[in-house]
Amino acid sequence: MFPATRLRRLRQHPVLRDLVRETSLSIHDLILPLFVRPGKGVKKEIASMPGNFQLSVDRLVEEVGACVDLGLKAFILFGIPERKDATGSSAWDDDGIIQQALRALRMAHADVLLITDECFCEYTDHGHCGVLQESRGRMDVDNDKTLPLLVRQCVSHVRTGADVVAPSGMMDGMVGAIRKGLDEAGFTMTPILSYAAKYASGFYGPFRDAAESPPQFGDRSGYQMDPANGDEALREVALDLEEGADIIMVKPALAYLDIIRRVKERFGVPVAAYNVSGEFAMVKAAAQKGWLDEKRVTLEILTSIKRAGADMILTYFAPEVAQWLK
Ligand code: PBG
Repeated sequence: MFPATRLRRLRQHPVLRDLVRETSLSIHDLILPLFVRPGKGVKKEIASMPGNFQLSVDRLVEEVGACVDLGLKAFILFGIPERKDATGSSAWDDDGIIQQALRALRMAHADVLLITDECFCEYTDHGHCGVLQESRGRMDVDNDKTLPLLVRQCVSHVRTGADVVAPSGMMDGMVGAIRKGLDEAGFTMTPILSYAAKYASGFYGPFRDAAESPPQFGDRSGYQMDPANGDEALREVALDLEEGADIIMVKPALAYLDIIRRVKERFGVPVAAYNVSGEFAMVKAAAQKGWLDEKRVTLEILTSIKRAGADMILTYFAPEVAQWLK
């Protein structure tokens, strides 16, 4: 059936290797996460994520400008607010940190795509992803009390300049509630990128330093998924699609390539994968010790995420990759 018994024939000439390559990684596949904090002239490096910074709005505008010069055009914003409280109310303040960043970026860089992470862990004093409620002697995030607040956050972000909203709190019904809220506010054309299959992962460690958002007690296993489960991810994705999600995210990426593949095969919708902070930090640390070739390993990882079925990748490596692919 396959008489070409020498598979090495196609590996001999570099041009032929290029021609038969099945997967390509492009700068157009990449979304860069950025962290914005209050202040002026602030550019504070995140220790566990070399080359990534908490930026004040003015420095954020500069950073995005530098990225645009490299050819990057899509960004996802995370906010470190001035004040935190029990409900995370600064998240839906039209003068909140993300809203200030959106307005400034819209003015300075009209053509970039601005995605906003929609969650409360950065805004609550307890560091959980929604409003807390005691239930059977345990504090847990109250799903249905969190939903209207999430809608307020999204509407405020879109009103101040977000192109796409990306709810990441793993609340049941979040996509449906946000779709309804955006439609009622007149934003019927704003897409929702849902963190549909988001696992309770140790790979978020460096991010929690970056966003100053670690839970002050307990962990996120009451809302994020158990890393052992695959079928459940498909149920999460099916629900989010029924509720109106436009793009589905799998997060983290590297340890969940099977999930990316299953989601793509089953649903055939646009899939985003989040190459998270811990995946970035592992490569950086090993490269700094001279144990891995950073460029080679990074391109291999990101290409593998695409091969698994992702259409787009959120990655802290985006600026480096943009330079390497030039
Ligand atoms: C929640 C959120 C997290 C990340 C993105 N959105 C942290 C969490 O769930 O604890 C992690 C991203 C990363 O590790 O790079 N707002």
